[in-house]
Amino acid sequence: MDAAYLETRCRLVDKTLDRFLPKAKTRPATLHEAMRYSLFAGGKRLRPVLCLAAAEACGGTVEAALAPAAAVECLHTYTLVHDDLPCMDDDDLRRGMPTCHVKYGEGIAVLAGDALLTLSFEILAQTPPTSRYGVGSYVSELAVASGSRHLIGGQVLDLEGEGTDVLLSPSQLRYLHESKTAALLTAAIRLGAMTANATPARLESLTVYGRSLGLAFQVIDDILDVTSTTEKLGKSVGKDEATAKSTYPALFGLEKSRKEAARLTSQAHNALKPFGKKAAVLHEIADYLLGRDY
Ligand code: IPE
Ligand code: IPE
Ligand code: MG
Ligand code: MG
Ligand code: MG
Repeated sequence: MDAAYLETRCRLVDKTLDRFLPKAKTRPATLHEAMRYSLFAGGKRLRPVLCLAAAEACGGTVEAALAPAAAVECLHTYTLVHDDLPCMDDDDLRRGMPTCHVKYGEGIAVLAGDALLTLSFEILAQTPPTSRYGVGSYVSELAVASGSRHLIGGQVLDLEGEGTDVLLSPSQLRYLHESKTAALLTAAIRLGAMTANATPARLESLTVYGRSLGLAFQVIDDILDVTSTTEKLGKSVGKDEATAKSTYPALFGLEKSRKEAARLTSQAHNALKPFGKKAAVLHEIADYLLGRDY
């Protein structure tokens, strides 16, 4: 996978998002402007790219996976808008731009997040059903991954673990990472595979891939918060340590954290064995993420 592949896929995702989003002038304009502001501020588009790649690995088409890809990115962007609020991580910079609440105020940022979350299900409902998977299975896939037992549950633990002298235990931290990050990544991949009518066995292999990749992704996010710069990441660095968050580097140090990210990535590669050459792009994405510096 080269930079050109990613570039092309990102452009396709952006075009799709633009199609699904209400225009900025649609009433109430401030809200729609704020939603578009956060969504189009940048971002790696990792989850939609994974969704499309999983569909192809299972013999499906990119076209059928466009709606879930866009839905997952809208949902992800809502989590970022809310994650940055003063009552959460209190961050001023996201995707290289002032955060939604800095630009539009807290009230509009909360509502823009709410609206992106709701819109994601409106978009998801437009996914073409297959013989194995109806619209109901797409909706419950995303709802479960992003709900109280997974993504939001992880955010709760993250918040509760902040600012205390006591770090989480390694198994609590793993649970936190699995919930707040790996669950949505896995759902993006599974949704793509479902649009290709993937067998339950294939779906299970991709679940293992997604969980390992998602865990590795959050370990690297934690590492970059220590080692990278605000310019590179487009978000503030050093905040995890400043707020005494439980992170991989905080619990294990940088070197062990890097090793863990590499171990999880090779676990992700192993899970793709049943796909043979069809999973080439998914392999490449895993390597690309391990080596990323932003
Ligand atoms: C940031 O996600 C939040 C985490 C779950 C670590 P990304 O690093 O994918 O953020 P964008 O979409 O590229 O801005
Ligand atoms: C955010 O985790 C996870 C979600 C928004 C679900 P972080 O708080 O580590 O993400 P960044 O570092 O602000 O992007
Ligand atoms: Mg956070
Ligand atoms: Mg944050
Ligand atoms: Mg982080």
